[in-house]
Amino acid sequence: MTDRYAVIGNPVAHSKSPQIHAVFAGLTLQDMRYEAILAPLDGFADAVRIFIAAGGRGMNVTVPFKLEAYALAATCSPRARAAKAVNTLIFSPAGIHGDNTDGLGLVADLTRNLGFRLAGRSILLLGAGGAARGVLLPVLEEKPAALTLANRTAAKALALGEEFAPLAGSCAFAASGFAELAGRQFDLVINATAASLADEALALPTGLYAPDSLAYDMVYGRETPFLAAARAQGAARMADGLGMLVEQAAESFFLWRGVRPETATVLAQLRKA
Ligand code: ATR
Repeated sequence: MTDRYAVIGNPVAHSKSPQIHAVFAGLTLQDMRYEAILAPLDGFADAVRIFIAAGGRGMNVTVPFKLEAYALAATCSPRARAAKAVNTLIFSPAGIHGDNTDGLGLVADLTRNLGFRLAGRSILLLGAGGAARGVLLPVLEEKPAALTLANRTAAKALALGEEFAPLAGSCAFAASGFAELAGRQFDLVINATAASLADEALALPTGLYAPDSLAYDMVYGRETPFLAAARAQGAARMADGLGMLVEQAAESFFLWRGVRPETATVLAQLRKA
């Protein structure tokens, strides 16, 4: 029997996950089917249960259900617990297990695709919403020398900073508003705010980019105002979040199937499209 997987969201028609997982399944010769399921905004848990009853083995969860997926999962990985969000569900006779591969996907894109080692570097993470929370633990686990979490609303960054400080180990971890960044330089600046989705620029101080620095926007498919500003201010390299999308999918695929798909093929396909 062909194993069934799906991405569940609302909206979900735009999702590239079915295409990505179809390529992964082909490359790794896995007998599986992957579809997109549109759940009513008030019907997430029911839609998951229907899919499980129909033989579903796992799901990716996208907007706006990642918090509900966290609540639904009977057991969770430590990184999903830190994120308080689940983007990957694994169904077995033992029950529903939740994981979060967003941060792993970001780290994999940075280290493998972009050749940027995080260990020992100085990193600025912008935003204090779900996207920032989702990647904090995997980024800290790479042992950067310093990680600064900054948000337009400083209080939110400070609250998130306090929560993650016990997980920072030897990393110099700090949280602030945007104004306090003046005069500082970073090797990597990651935009995890929702500003790019609305094509809004961030009101950041100038001069944040160290020589050889990388500007990374989690949004993909275009040069966002954040990336345009980084280019104008001398960031050495710019990257959008398409690689993160593909790598988080690969991590989910690995959790379900136990094989790690090669990602360059589908990344090149999506870039061309
Ligand atoms: P997500 O799950 O995508 O992170 P969210 O939880 O609603 O979405 O969080 C949105 C984040 O984007 C917040 O950090 C928000 O900053 P505030 O806390 O100050 O609202 C940030 N954000 C959205 N638009 C922004 C803008 N134009 N400039 C700066 N930050 C912005």
